[in-house]
Amino acid sequence: MAGGGRPRDAGAPHPVNGRRSALTLTVNGTPHTLTLDHRTTVLDVLREHLGLTGAKKGCDHGQCGACTVLVDGRRANSCLLLAVAHDGRQLTTIEGLADGERLHPLQEAFVEHDALQCGYCTPGQICSAVGVLTEAADGHPSHVTPDTAGSGAPVALTADEIRERMSGNLCRCGAYPRIVDAVEAVAGTAAAGVAGA
Ligand code: FES
Ligand code: FES
Repeated sequence: MAGGGRPRDAGAPHPVNGRRSALTLTVNGTPHTLTLDHRTTVLDVLREHLGLTGAKKGCDHGQCGACTVLVDGRRANSCLLLAVAHDGRQLTTIEGLADGERLHPLQEAFVEHDALQCGYCTPGQICSAVGVLTEAADGHPSHVTPDTAGSGAPVALTADEIRERMSGNLCRCGAYPRIVDAVEAVAGTAAAGVAGA
């Protein structure tokens, strides 16, 4: 997982003193200018400063994926990101995926496939899956992508590909088979859309 390139017009964080800086994060399309301690993570900004509690704090060590959000469209573990290093970035959380009352296709698929039990990991799973769809469409290979795949060509999201690419998102309830089913259903729909375009 990694963040994307920083917008060139983003200003540097404005130091307030040696420990705090003013910076702007755009979250789900809304810019927020905050003065933050330099040790504040993006996850804590979302949950503690902005009241967006969809992203969960599971391990706080980059090991469970419960805190996954999208940074400039690419998935990242927000517990590992210092907010001060993300001035000017665009963040998308689970709260920002729906289009008004219409759920994101992956949200619908998770419901349809009953791909959750307690739901604690689900926001991170869905944000991660959004990133997976983009990465595969952009031709980013995974550990299980065949060597014969064309360089830069879209990668078909087989169940093996989904399992590998989602392996950073843990589910203590063991809902993995249905999570794979849900992602596969949306990936198949997306692939059919491309093929039929
Ligand atoms: S809370 Fe961030 S990876 Fe677990
Ligand atoms: S649904 Fe409970 S941890 Fe995944």
